[in-house]
Amino acid sequence: MIKEMADDEATQATNDDASECKRYAVQLGYWSDPFINFFVRQTARKPPEINRGYYARVKGIEVFIDKFLKYSGGKGQIINLGAGFDTLYWRLRDAGCSPQNFVELDFPNITAKKCYHIKKHKQLIDKINTEDGEIKFSTTDFHAANYHLIGVDLRHISELSNKLVQAEVEFNIPTLFLAECVLVYVDSNAASGLLKWLAEKFPNCIFVNYEQVNMRDKFGQVMLQNLRCRGCLLAGVEDCESLETQQRRFTISGWQGSNAWTMVEVYDSLPESERKRIERIEMLDERELLTQLLQHYCISVAWNGTMFKELSIAQG
Ligand SMILES: C[S@@+](CC[C@H](N)C(=O)[O-])C[C@H]1O[C@@H](n2cnc3c(N)ncnc32)[C@H](O)[C@@H]1O
Repeated sequence: MIKEMADDEATQATNDDASECKRYAVQLGYWSDPFINFFVRQTARKPPEINRGYYARVKGIEVFIDKFLKYSGGKGQIINLGAGFDTLYWRLRDAGCSPQNFVELDFPNITAKKCYHIKKHKQLIDKINTEDGEIKFSTTDFHAANYHLIGVDLRHISELSNKLVQAEVEFNIPTLFLAECVLVYVDSNAASGLLKWLAEKFPNCIFVNYEQVNMRDKFGQVMLQNLRCRGCLLAGVEDCESLETQQRRFTISGWQGSNAWTMVEVYDSLPESERKRIERIEMLDERELLTQLLQHYCISVAWNGTMFKELSIAQG
């Protein structure tokens, strides 16, 4: 029990890393995010390959979010699992294209911190849709018209189910699940229980998953060792062995289909003019290091229902 709590704390600390890396890359101009600095103050310098990796991650995910929003025409919902301090909700509001409902889930320790930052910054509160009445919040949860932030352990399905009802989630509308570096921290049994439950409950949905891949090779082993040194157990790492295992974890959990790409492929598919722009931000002495890093992360996408046809993700 104590071991599990220590592991959960180490897992939660990975949110600081992700948010700091995003904040640093935004500060250098890799992409625009006027909201991240409300959640993260100062950050130490990060190496260029890390900044480019985060750029590929954010832009790669954006491709699927944009397709989904076009398809659902504002009538769908996005559910961000292990959302940490992610700012996607505010960026979409800023761009005038938020979905019908946006739900963020993470451990209560993390959502409490996020609630605190939201309440503290008028710029964040002002962007939240408050059309249909007031904002309701507790220490760990926050509910507004189309934004819900909820503290829950994703390994506990019955609690999750209740919390989704509180968040006014509708099971039959187009739904996009997002998980950025989250499932690797959830043990395989609990992760497959979660994926099965989502597949049963949501007949028209896609799951966009960003996470480690090719973890069996030498570079992958060093990455895992670094995370383990910080106390992260990486209970779900089995599914990060290859693109095939990443896809299979969905199909054996009842999803109709799945696809996966390494971040090398994702990076190369981003618009050339944008890649050229960000490649001018910082010199990269060793291109090889970036390629290795990108080979060890992937985006996998799984679907249920007919949405994937319209999103044309099945063929890549
Ligand atoms: C690496 S961080 C990523 C945060 C965010 N997705 C991003 O990319 O900026 C992983 C997040 O997953 C959350 N997480 C991991 N396991 C979880 C669980 N069982 N229940 C809820 N949240 C979890 C952690 O608390 C943490 O915020």
